[in-house]
Amino acid sequence: MNKAWWHNSVVYQIYPKSFQDSDGDGVGNIKGIISRLDYLKDLGINVIWICPIYKSPMVDHGYDISDYYQIDPSFGTMEDMELLLKECKEREIKVLMDLVINHTSDKHPWFEKAMEDLDSDYADYYIIKEGKDGNPPNNWRSIFGGSAWEKIGDTNKYYLHLFTKAQPDLNWENKELRSELYEMVNYWLEKGLGGFRVDAISHIKKDFSYVNLPADGPDGLVDAWEYYKNTTGIEVFLNELKEKTFKIYDSMTVAEADIKEVDRLVDFIGENGCFSTVFDFCHTIYNVNDEKWKDKPIKMVNEIREKLFKKQLGAAKYGFLSNFIENHDLPRCVNRFIPEKEISFYSESMLGTLYFFLRGIPFIYQGQEIGMTDFPKKSINEFLDLATYQNYEKYLGKGLTEKEALKRINIECREHSRTPFQWNSGENAGFTSGAPWFEINPNYKCINMKEQEDRENSLLTYYKRLISLRKNEEYKETFIYGDIIPAFNEYDGIISYERKNAKQRVLVINNCSNKPSIIKFKENVKQILLNNYNDIVLKGKNLELLPYQSIVLELN
Ligand code: NOJ
Repeated sequence: MNKAWWHNSVVYQIYPKSFQDSDGDGVGNIKGIISRLDYLKDLGINVIWICPIYKSPMVDHGYDISDYYQIDPSFGTMEDMELLLKECKEREIKVLMDLVINHTSDKHPWFEKAMEDLDSDYADYYIIKEGKDGNPPNNWRSIFGGSAWEKIGDTNKYYLHLFTKAQPDLNWENKELRSELYEMVNYWLEKGLGGFRVDAISHIKKDFSYVNLPADGPDGLVDAWEYYKNTTGIEVFLNELKEKTFKIYDSMTVAEADIKEVDRLVDFIGENGCFSTVFDFCHTIYNVNDEKWKDKPIKMVNEIREKLFKKQLGAAKYGFLSNFIENHDLPRCVNRFIPEKEISFYSESMLGTLYFFLRGIPFIYQGQEIGMTDFPKKSINEFLDLATYQNYEKYLGKGLTEKEALKRINIECREHSRTPFQWNSGENAGFTSGAPWFEINPNYKCINMKEQEDRENSLLTYYKRLISLRKNEEYKETFIYGDIIPAFNEYDGIISYERKNAKQRVLVINNCSNKPSIIKFKENVKQILLNNYNDIVLKGKNLELLPYQSIVLELN
């Protein structure tokens, strides 16, 4: 395998609206990020991914771009962005921007021109079809709910939007459109970006048969994934994108592409794949049916373990996955994976250890390192995200009462991870001097960065240890390129794996439950590299793991 600079990365994801405000308007911005770079450097990360900061009407919080060449004024100016790149360079931190090229905003000039003249060249930049008997072209459901088609004025034509109707899908079959996108990507790479996280890229190729399918819900619509997700032929577009842009700049590219068939990974992350890496979604709500998991946490752990290792082992043949447990589209990890009464330093640090040494690139989402939690709401009106409302409607449509629907939303909604960062226990958690755009979780009085920064046994200190071990000169070859070998799979609720190369063996053991667990242990321990407790209880051949204990051992 050819080595690349990004192989040795720990990435920190920034949701800019909620990271740090610098001017008191209540919205996080680029200058705010700059003011926190020393914090990030001290944490030990070497790459940041910033969610979209381009000009946008913000219907989907920046994932609806109206001008790819401008910074949204709420985040600052192009000069601020250039300063950020300079300041990051000085600290040896690479910057990934979010690249949203499956769709634009409906306020993008291309779309506005398309709507003005449906026979214009710009109309072919989007996917516009004739309706059938007064209905949309087919019964596809948008990923956020409702029909994926929006009627255009009083014509019989509709445009496709896989997300909100303010995010019309681009027509990648159009060569001029592709050239315009490549030019834009290169404009940003020329500025010195390290690369991109590539949004919704699985959807750029659609199956143009556009037939009606059997409905899968009372709305008469259907989630037609096989017609617009990783569709056959998508590789042609992805390869062209890579050849004309990323490859020229030796970029790091992280695709938001949930590849379920392991062998298909070759096209995405293989030696000649289209991207550097793809996220592994195997443990997320999209892949683990966890409606009732809180009653059966061990069952869920075992299911995740099976999926996780299948993906890890499969991917190792081809390249690197990107591993994460939180992002801006998911609830906070502690609330998702840990029963409420068991949330503690031990369970939180176990979650971090669990995925940090897997083969691939570890990602940390802002606030994860201090254990930020979900912030359930008392009324649906307290939420702000369109996707939340669409899901709420979906549940009502399925017959849930308002109370039941709110309960579901409170469990699974992505807005939990979007509350402002809790920097300290002062006014507005140190996030802004103005009125925050989204309510701050009141638990900032006790959960905040300042309280943990110098505390030896804090989660933040533990994350620093995780990162420093992951990047340690002595072990990094093993953690990056070593084999991954699942261990102790016969024990319920244990997720354990060995990382191994010709020179070294490192064993990671995680007890994912609040019960002690005794495992038969025949290995010879050379040294303890990390432990979220003070002690390790090894009695003869019995290793007695404490509740939520995580240990990382170097073996002889
Ligand atoms: C995936 C992004 O992560 C999500 O936040 C966004 O809403 C959709 N793509 C649409 O761009």
